[in-house]
Amino acid sequence: MANRPGRSGSREDTLRHSNLIKHIANIRTSGTIIRSSPYLISRLLRSIDFESARTVVQLGIGTGCITRELLRRLHPEARLISIEVNEVFVRDSFRIRDPRLTVRHACAGSLRRLLDDLGVGQIDHVVSSLPLAIMGPALVERILRVSQAALTPEGSFLQYQYSLSQRAALERRFADVRVGFTLANIPPAFVYECTAAR
Ligand SMILES: C[S@@+](CC[C@H](N)C(=O)[O-])C[C@H]1O[C@@H](n2cnc3c(N)ncnc32)[C@H](O)[C@@H]1O
Repeated sequence: MANRPGRSGSREDTLRHSNLIKHIANIRTSGTIIRSSPYLISRLLRSIDFESARTVVQLGIGTGCITRELLRRLHPEARLISIEVNEVFVRDSFRIRDPRLTVRHACAGSLRRLLDDLGVGQIDHVVSSLPLAIMGPALVERILRVSQAALTPEGSFLQYQYSLSQRAALERRFADVRVGFTLANIPPAFVYECTAAR
């Protein structure tokens, strides 16, 4: 169900309020309720060649700002598959109307099964906002493993984080891991650019 603009004190306002409470209750999976800054989003996406990329997977939709920017940059014939575990964000994403976008309400660890269901083999890039630092190590390992296995050899796994705590896990899984940093976000963030091939 898509959210619609509503009047103050209306049923829609009540709905948004209860959604916010649900969202805060899910803070352990969300990681943060602060929307990524345009600078962080540009930094995160800068290594993607949008002329050639045809299949991009997004892990964790949140407020949808990265989803929207991906769609703004993506080739008309490309597709974006966005996976989100929180149903509030999934519903909110229905407001983004773009035939290139497929949203799945699921855990990122199910990536391979979701791709199989969609008839998708390999993918060009994974763009992740997942809060890896507060997720269980087994789930992090699984998500990194299935992502790496789904990527083409030239593909990349792009991730931002607020600490370097997951650097070792990324370096174990990917052939090459470059780490950048931007102060232009609250809080400042590290950006990982991981090359898929081992
Ligand atoms: C840090 S927030 C993303 C914020 C987003 N970049 C923005 O600016 O709005 C992390 C997102 O990952 C989602 N998430 C957490 N664990 C997940 C999982 N296992 N599978 C899919 N999505 C997950 C959360 O529900 C949340 O939407």
